[in-house]
Amino acid sequence: MSSTKGIFKALENLISDSQTSKPLKILIVAVESAPYASVGGFSSVIAYLSKELKRLGHDVRIFMPKFGFIDEQKYGLKLVKEGLKVPTDFPENPYLICNVKTSFSNNVQTYFLENQEYYELRANVYGYSDDPTRWALLSRGVLEFIRSGEFVPDIIHCNDWHTGIVSNYLKTMYKEDKILSEIPTIFTIHNLAIQGNFDHWHVAELDMDDGRSAVASFFDERLNKQNFMRRGILYSDAVNTVSKTYSKEILSPEFGQGLDKLLLELRSKLYGIVNGLDYEEFNPETDKLIEKNYDINSLELRLENKISLQKEFGLKESLETPIFGFVGRLDWQKGVDMLVKVLENVMKNFDVQFVEVGGGDGGIADMLRNLQRQFPDKVGVHTHLNFALSRSLFSGCDIILYPSRFEPCGIVQLEAMRYGALPLVRKVGGLADTVEDVNSVDGTGTGFVFNDFDEFSLYGQIVRAIELYRNKVLWRKLQRNVMKKDFSWGYSAKEYERLYLRANSLKNTESLNITIDRPI
Ligand code: GLC
Repeated sequence: MSSTKGIFKALENLISDSQTSKPLKILIVAVESAPYASVGGFSSVIAYLSKELKRLGHDVRIFMPKFGFIDEQKYGLKLVKEGLKVPTDFPENPYLICNVKTSFSNNVQTYFLENQEYYELRANVYGYSDDPTRWALLSRGVLEFIRSGEFVPDIIHCNDWHTGIVSNYLKTMYKEDKILSEIPTIFTIHNLAIQGNFDHWHVAELDMDDGRSAVASFFDERLNKQNFMRRGILYSDAVNTVSKTYSKEILSPEFGQGLDKLLLELRSKLYGIVNGLDYEEFNPETDKLIEKNYDINSLELRLENKISLQKEFGLKESLETPIFGFVGRLDWQKGVDMLVKVLENVMKNFDVQFVEVGGGDGGIADMLRNLQRQFPDKVGVHTHLNFALSRSLFSGCDIILYPSRFEPCGIVQLEAMRYGALPLVRKVGGLADTVEDVNSVDGTGTGFVFNDFDEFSLYGQIVRAIELYRNKVLWRKLQRNVMKKDFSWGYSAKEYERLYLRANSLKNTESLNITIDRPI
């Protein structure tokens, strides 16, 4: 196996260099994509990876639901397919009828699957008890759309559990289909922790899904118990996560979310590609959302943003006080609960400030508001998603905190670095791959890194950052280090290009060792 793989890799390297010039037709299937629907960093990955692949010459298109809140006028949506019949496998109600509309953003074409009941009439992207039906409709809808001949891609690129069963359908129900059976699939894991509409840690033994049974019909209760994430991993030709380190971490029980054994078994098709950042969209030189524009040679101008941030959040105006920041989803994953506990002690002992922007878990939001009540002139919180405020934070704060329990990639540290704020992170997943611990003697490094998820380790690094902040010359050098780093999409998009070719080779040479209990 491993020597076959070695030959393979060598061949691919040879092939890929000559083939990458050949434009590929790529269809990316996802629930969110900016600017149409954005809940988290996921949506910018879909949008900006596509934009970069397009720049490389590929014909890349996105397929997503047409949620009711997507403004048809604003984005100029046009109908491309009326009355697409999507089979449900449920005899009493055999088809759901959908339309497909289209629009362009950043030169990339997006297709929207339109359905009144499942997308149009829902105010939110996620959070409904019938989400498995909604995503099964998307997954089967995209395959029926391809069959209609409107756009036949060379590769289907699926993302997270919502689209995990695309490859499952393709390898079972559609395995005799002339068009579909030829198309390789890749599956990107942005977050292994969410595997379906259930807590995968608390599934009764009887309800455990090994992924080998047929996909249940749209209206069958069993669909809610099927593990779409597991199925995406099992049936896709290649699988990747959004950083190299996370792709290795998930092979262990600590990070594998119960799927580590499966991933170990299938590791020959598992890859890691770190996310990038759109350097045109995120640019302190031109960003219209920030108070004062600046670049690596005019970092002193950044202080105006610092004052503006302090004003915005009602904090004491002081250039000498380091401002720590947090931007992101309030989620157990991100370690904000531990952060608040540590900050309580930091606030008592040091002249520092803290600003937070981002919503999510109500309990964590309460902890933050409570911290703010204790230290009103030192702490500012905005417990809702807000893109403009996030930019003010990146451009005005000194250190961005990211003490995650696990982190598949993380984008906020890349955004912060682009704006000259230093990241303070736990050494996990994409944070380990993108932040290098500072060496205060020779002034190298890009941030503050700690290993263990515990309060002492985090506290220690915060104190270290406060100390180093006093050394103005060193701090300026560190700010330049982070701003010189290039995390733009160019490199990662090239890696995806290679992965698409690899998926094609894997599809043609390695047969899946899967037995389906009910062939369809
Ligand atoms: C998920 C992950 C995050 C990653 C993002 C985009 O939100 O938690 O680490 O950066 O997806 O891939």
